[in-house]
Amino acid sequence: MTTDILTNVQDRILTITFNRPDKKNAITAAMYGVMADAMEDANKNDDIRAILFNANGDAFTAGNDLIDFRDNPPRGPETGVARFLRELILARKPLVAAVNGIAVGVGFTMLLHCDLVYMSETAALQAPFVDLALVPEAASSLLLPARIGQAKAAEIFMLGKRVSAAEADAMGIASRVFPADQLAAGAAKAAMALSKKAPESLRQTKQLMRGDLDVISARMLKESELFGARLLSPELGEAVMAFLQKREPDFG
Ligand code: COA
Repeated sequence: MTTDILTNVQDRILTITFNRPDKKNAITAAMYGVMADAMEDANKNDDIRAILFNANGDAFTAGNDLIDFRDNPPRGPETGVARFLRELILARKPLVAAVNGIAVGVGFTMLLHCDLVYMSETAALQAPFVDLALVPEAASSLLLPARIGQAKAAEIFMLGKRVSAAEADAMGIASRVFPADQLAAGAAKAAMALSKKAPESLRQTKQLMRGDLDVISARMLKESELFGARLLSPELGEAVMAFLQKREPDFG
């Protein structure tokens, strides 16, 4: 069992912690699996009232592990990543994120499924899918333009623009920005407050606010088909090689 994800239940709050700081918390298949299992259990467990995502180290997460991606491209609906994304969509409990540092790729797109997104003022977001010759995932091609508008979303997806915490706040991606040393306490306080609310009322409110989950799931599926094919493309190979060799990719 990997220790690159830590899970802990206390005070009716499930905390899921990215714990692979030396690799900027890049997420492997095993890590997705642990998160998916924990979320699946929490979804069924009436004693868990909120889920808090946080991270050890200076990054929130650098997104998918690029080497894992290239060497073990995930396929089908039962992979760790597919199960994790599904749990994000189907979550019945409120999700809180404490974004302490850079959040890349799925580290960013998962936030579009979180109810409260708290960011450190030193944190930033980036979704460089096109830079990696990929396409957006986690229904973000639907959710991000809906949240911030097509024009802003295009800069983020197509140019790979990095978004500061202050910009994320202004765009309505972040719920609130904290000084770095107050983030953990601020997020914990909110999770604690949620854990004391009427659970059924919270669940229904979340569902009403999220809209039609079938539409979100359908978009995620469409993205997954394209994403899966792109993972096998020579362009992805070049993008990963360029990252590892610390150079710009050459797509010809
Ligand atoms: N997959 C695998 N390894 C990763 C990784 C990823 N997504 N992100 C970072 N790492 C590794 C680096 O290879 C490096 O390993 P090394 O020490 O063995 O060389 C280590 O984590 C530290 O990363 P580094 O790039 O030196 O840190 P940084 O502070 O300069 O930059 C990031 C941090 C997150 C901006 C940068 O690592 C990055 O852009 N990562 C790729 C993000 C990405 O494209 N994710 C996929 C989105 S779909």
